[in-house]
Amino acid sequence: MGDSIGPVADIYAAMLAEHGPTPLGVGWNDWARQRLSFETLCAIIPPDATGQTINDLGCGYGALFDFLAPRPALEGGLYYGWDAAPAMIEAAKARIADPRVNFAVARQPLAGADWSFASGIWNIKLDAPTADWERVIAEGMRALAFASRRGYAFNMLSTRGPAREAEIYLGEPARWLAFCRDNLPGRPELVEDYGLPEFTIRVRLP
Ligand SMILES: C[S@@+](CC[C@H](N)C(=O)[O-])C[C@H]1O[C@@H](n2cnc3c(N)ncnc32)[C@H](O)[C@@H]1O
Repeated sequence: MGDSIGPVADIYAAMLAEHGPTPLGVGWNDWARQRLSFETLCAIIPPDATGQTINDLGCGYGALFDFLAPRPALEGGLYYGWDAAPAMIEAAKARIADPRVNFAVARQPLAGADWSFASGIWNIKLDAPTADWERVIAEGMRALAFASRRGYAFNMLSTRGPAREAEIYLGEPARWLAFCRDNLPGRPELVEDYGLPEFTIRVRLP
């Protein structure tokens, strides 16, 4: 299958070099849309839960930490940001000095947490054959599931959105919902039509 993730990490490092630690630097158009994705993912955390531990796989420059930092979940909690691109982790560490945060270069969560999230990490596949990329996605979902105690959530550009270049992966919402239901622990819920060309799957455990 080769290394499909390394070249993708290099593309994100180039985006970061061009645009800095901003939404454009991780392929988002603007903060409003990035935040709407985060709100949709993190709605799985009960709003009054405090002291939660969070895995953020493909954390980029740590924008999900900015979103969660003032919320109850991270009162007395911990956030682990993992990214395949060393430049992203350097940018995140340079930007965020908070005792609740740990950033490291990794392609899967290296710690257990109450909740694990992955936002936008499977959007760019470059020239990886679709079947290989779908194996990368399935492995990533398994890693999220087994690193999580209470639940996990991820998003993906949807086949129900606009057509894109061949190097972009569009996921079929029903297919990935069925994958989670049939292969992974927990109770998956599909969320669509929240104003972005993506869908979110949130899975409550056990
Ligand atoms: C679209 S950016 C999103 C960044 C961040 N989640 C956000 O929404 O601001 C995707 C990030 O995921 C990273 N990435 C892609 N595949 C990964 C993998 N398998 N493991 C860890 N990081 C990955 C990329 O290097 C990039 O920084």
